[in-house]
Amino acid sequence: MAKDALWWRQAAIYQIYPRSFYDSNGDGIGDLNGIIEKVPYLKSLNLDAVWLSPFYPSALADGGYDVDDYRDVDPKIGTLKDFDRMVKALHKADISLIIDIVPNHSSNQHKWFKEALASEPGSKARDRYIFRDGRGKNGELPPNDWPSHFVPSAWTRTNNPDGTPGQWYLHLFAPEQPDWNWDNREVEEDFLKTLRFWADRGVDGFRIDVAHALKKDLKRIYTAKKNNVDGFKIPQNGTDVLFDRNEVHEVYKTWRKLFNEYNPPKFAVAEAYVKAKRRMLYARPDELGQAFNFDLLGAYYGAKDFKRIITENLKLAKSEGSSSTWVFNNHDRVRHTTRFGLPKKVDLRTWLLADGKSHKVDMELGLQRARAATLMLLALPGCTYLYQGEELALPEVPDLPESELADPIWKRTSGTEKGRDGCRVSIPWSEATAHKHFKGLSAEIQESASDSMLNFYR
Ligand code: NOJ
Repeated sequence: MAKDALWWRQAAIYQIYPRSFYDSNGDGIGDLNGIIEKVPYLKSLNLDAVWLSPFYPSALADGGYDVDDYRDVDPKIGTLKDFDRMVKALHKADISLIIDIVPNHSSNQHKWFKEALASEPGSKARDRYIFRDGRGKNGELPPNDWPSHFVPSAWTRTNNPDGTPGQWYLHLFAPEQPDWNWDNREVEEDFLKTLRFWADRGVDGFRIDVAHALKKDLKRIYTAKKNNVDGFKIPQNGTDVLFDRNEVHEVYKTWRKLFNEYNPPKFAVAEAYVKAKRRMLYARPDELGQAFNFDLLGAYYGAKDFKRIITENLKLAKSEGSSSTWVFNNHDRVRHTTRFGLPKKVDLRTWLLADGKSHKVDMELGLQRARAATLMLLALPGCTYLYQGEELALPEVPDLPESELADPIWKRTSGTEKGRDGCRVSIPWSEATAHKHFKGLSAEIQESASDSMLNFYR
C-alpha cells in the first residue's frame, strides 16, 4: 500500500551503519545480506524506516563517507542485486528505506578525481573539484589557511604527472575526500542522475550529508580570512565563504522538484550543522522538508534543558511548516547510555583520549536515564532517529586498541583526539561474538528478557 506522502512527520527511523550491523558471511564486515536477514528483527522494533549510512564502493578513509562511485554497492558488502533484494524485503515488512547522499565531497578514488589529477590546471576535468595554485614563490604554501574538519589544513598539494609539485585541492574533511565544485554544471547534473538512479530503484528518501557546505564563494579563496569550520560560529545571514550560503538552497529547490515527481514524493533530511533558525531553512516544504535537530545529542540529561530544547524546536519546526526531529545517538557521537552515566562536567573528548579511565561510568544510572530519556523522546510529536545498538543499551567502547582506530580524526590529530570508532563497534547479536564491553547485552539474551532494553524499545 502506498504510504501517506507525509509519513515521515511522525516516524521512528533507525540508522544502520552497514559495516558494523550484521556480517552474514563471516568475512569480518557487515553486509547487505546481513540487513536482509535481520528484517524480522527490524520489523519487531516497529520502525517506519531505516536510514542506511553509505554502502557505496569506498576505500573507507572516512567510514564510507568517501564515495568512489555513487551508483554502485561496495563489493565488500554486496551487489546492486542484493540492494534490490534488500529494498524488497524492507518494503514487504512495511519499512521505508532512506539512503545517505554525500554531495559535498567524493573520494580521491572517484574516476573524476583521478581524471582531474591526470589533467592540466584550468582543464574541464579539474573544474569539477576545487583546484588552485599555491601561494609563495613556488606555490609551496596553500591558497589560504582554512583548516579542515579533520584538522590540520583543508588543502593538499598534488603532484604533476611528471612528479613535480603541482596545484592544491580543497577538502573540508580528509585529504581522501576532495570537495566538489558545486558551481560546475556537470557536478550538479551528475547528482540529479544519482538521486534518480536510487529513487527509481525504490529508495524512499535521502539523508543529505553536510548539506550546508555545497556552495562556496570561490572568488574569495585568496582573500578570505581564516575561516571557522564550525557552522555555529559563522555569520547568520548566508554570507560565510564556505558554509550555509544562501545559494545552497537553490540546489535543494531543484532536488525537491525531482523528489516530487514520485508518488509519494521522496523524503529528504538535511544534516546541516548551523544554528536552529538557519537550519530550518533546509526543512522548508519546497526544499528538503526536514533537517536534523542535534540539540539533544549535545545536551546532558536533565529536565530543564530537555524542556527548553523541545519547546524551541517544536516552535521552529512549525514556523517552517516542517516536523521536529529528535536524536540521542548517531555514528558520530558518544553513545547516550555512557554520556548519561558520566558526571556532567566530563569533557567527552578528554575522557575518550584517556581510554575512558579518567572517570568511571555509572552504568546503572546511565541505563536508567537512557531509558527515561528514550521514553520521553518516543512520546514527542515529530520524527525520532534511533541509531543501531541503542535499543540494546550499548555503551561507548572507549578503549579500542590503536590498531582498531579507523576514524581519520585519530591520525590527522596525531593521536590527540580519539574520534568516533567507539560508537561504531559491531552489534552483539550473540553472547559468543559480543565485544567485551557488550557482554550480557547481546540481542540473543535481551530477546527473552521481558524487562530488557530491547523489549522496552519495541
Ligand atoms: C557527517 C557524517 O555524519 C560523518 O560521519 C562524516 O565524517 C562527515 N559528514 C563527512 O562526510
